[in-house]
Amino acid sequence: MNEMTTVTDTATQPAPEKAKPALPDAQTVTEVKHWTDKLFSFRVTRPASLRFRSGEFVMIGLMNDPDPKTGKVKPLLRAYSIASPAWDEEMEFYSIKVEDGPLTSRLQHIQPGDEIILRPKPVGTLVHDALLPGKRIWFFATGTGFAPFASLLREPQTYEDYDEVIITHTCRTVGELQYGRELIESLKDDELLNELIGEGFWKKIKYYPTTTREESPKMGRITDLMRSGEAFADLGVPPLNPDTDRAMICGNLAFNLELKDLFENTYGLEEGANSKPLHFVVEKAFLD
Ligand code: A2P
Repeated sequence: MNEMTTVTDTATQPAPEKAKPALPDAQTVTEVKHWTDKLFSFRVTRPASLRFRSGEFVMIGLMNDPDPKTGKVKPLLRAYSIASPAWDEEMEFYSIKVEDGPLTSRLQHIQPGDEIILRPKPVGTLVHDALLPGKRIWFFATGTGFAPFASLLREPQTYEDYDEVIITHTCRTVGELQYGRELIESLKDDELLNELIGEGFWKKIKYYPTTTREESPKMGRITDLMRSGEAFADLGVPPLNPDTDRAMICGNLAFNLELKDLFENTYGLEEGANSKPLHFVVEKAFLD
């Protein structure tokens, strides 16, 4: 705990806050940032006993409205990648806002001090343990699929294990790249990483943002840019090779499947798992 304790004269104390309904597995929101009208990120307190590996996801949510017939309230939960690294004392999430989405239509209105439900059972395939040692790691994201990489880019093991870290992020618009762009920029001043890995560790990172529906310096889907060879020429690296390259994929379903096919049938990479580390892994959270 690092909260300040203040001694207050009981006579001047404000009336006690209205008791909040006790949520199961409640955590308190500490910060909310809105990036576009469709994207926001937020931080919450971390359960003291929760251990997870950078890149994993948990179920989070809110209580549903009472059932009109029975009056019972049930939790409404969704899988969310943890965007903060394993060492962080809080937990961060990066979310889309869907106007008629059962959870995100409400979650987008959370404020610091509010409570959310966080089931402390982390799982996931986007973990270093699921990959064989290699020279270069690629992170491929679309949209909010950047979230697990926001965790892994702040994870010291990423830089201990690899000489090069390439992060590609394809979004529709320039504004949708901003969360990732600021996060990568902030790594230069990350005290822990500079101390553990060494000053200038961030030079290992190659950031390759692309947009598909708004003008930006690099336009197009990463899949097309790889097929044409343009992405490799821009980055100054050869196409992926099972001897040197490892990759993690997190995006919409069509993107995940298209990249998996490209890896297996063009570059000769094999999909790994926690139980069988190999060359690449795909986030399964969106496939369920
Ligand atoms: P596009 O605009 O050409 O559909 P979405 O918001 O639909 O989840 O998409 C996020 C980004 O991922 C968009 O830039 C979108 O490009 C891109 N995308 C969607 N499907 C694929 C795919 N199969 N391969 C590569 N990029 C994709």
